[in-house]
Amino acid sequence: MANDALIEFKGVTVAYWQNNMGVFSIKDLITHRKNPFTTKTILHDISFEVKRGECMGVLGRNGSGKSTLLRAIAGVVKPQVGSIHINGSIAPILAIGAGLETELTGYENIELLLSLYGKPRKDVDAIKSIKDFSGLSDDVLRTPTKTYSSGMLARLTFSISVANDSDILIIDEVLAVGDQGFQHKCMDKIYQVKKEGKTILFVSHFPEDVKKLCDTAILLDGGVITHRGGAPEICDLYQKLF
Ligand SMILES: Nc1ncnc2c1ncn2[C@@H]1O[C@H](COP(=O)(O)OP(=O)(O)OP(=O)(O)O)[C@@H](O)[C@H]1O
Ligand SMILES: [Mg+2]
Repeated sequence: MANDALIEFKGVTVAYWQNNMGVFSIKDLITHRKNPFTTKTILHDISFEVKRGECMGVLGRNGSGKSTLLRAIAGVVKPQVGSIHINGSIAPILAIGAGLETELTGYENIELLLSLYGKPRKDVDAIKSIKDFSGLSDDVLRTPTKTYSSGMLARLTFSISVANDSDILIIDEVLAVGDQGFQHKCMDKIYQVKKEGKTILFVSHFPEDVKKLCDTAILLDGGVITHRGGAPEICDLYQKLF
């Protein structure tokens, strides 16, 4: 792995198990005498590096494999073939509400995640800064997160993730459901994280955002990186897909 590379993929193939029989029982398994699962390959032989301080956009049509790529970086899915090396800590914002326990209140989720990040559970300053960034009221944060709207969940997910001072920030489209005020606040925060020299992977269907924020970008199609280069050039290629 090159010294300045924080993320390195070498020949990575990721596949998901797929059940082709719908609901099945142990009896089905015995009588059919065949495995109801097949594998579906999502990412094919992916190789790339992301350097320290690089901000890389990830573009592609729906279903092209962007979220799977980010999940592989975050370690949520493992490659069947190839290797992934990550040289730093990650703040993954993979989906709206990801990592939150729905039965717990906003405050309880904040405390839980702070302790997972190795911080004191009752870190009053950290809790206050997360609350302030989220813009969620005391009343809302005292309510179980299963009652939150998508925008409220996005606010909490983003605010907790960026509070953890990680080397790599991964953002998968979670901003789209926030209102305009929160989207601007999040983009400002992402620019600040970039200025601090952190590494960012940014999935978005808005090429203008990718052009403004990212230095480089990759274009995925059918689970393959078809293009990699400067963000403006890759955004133009993405727009030509439609
Ligand atoms: N858990 C899963 N099990 C089986 N197949 C899956 C699973 N998750 C995703 N897939 C499939 O993997 C492919 C890529 O999905 P992925 O979510 O990575 O795409 P994406 O580029 O993020 O799309 P979008 O722009 O819609 O978010 C799709 O064909 C999808 O159906
Ligand atoms: Mg996705």
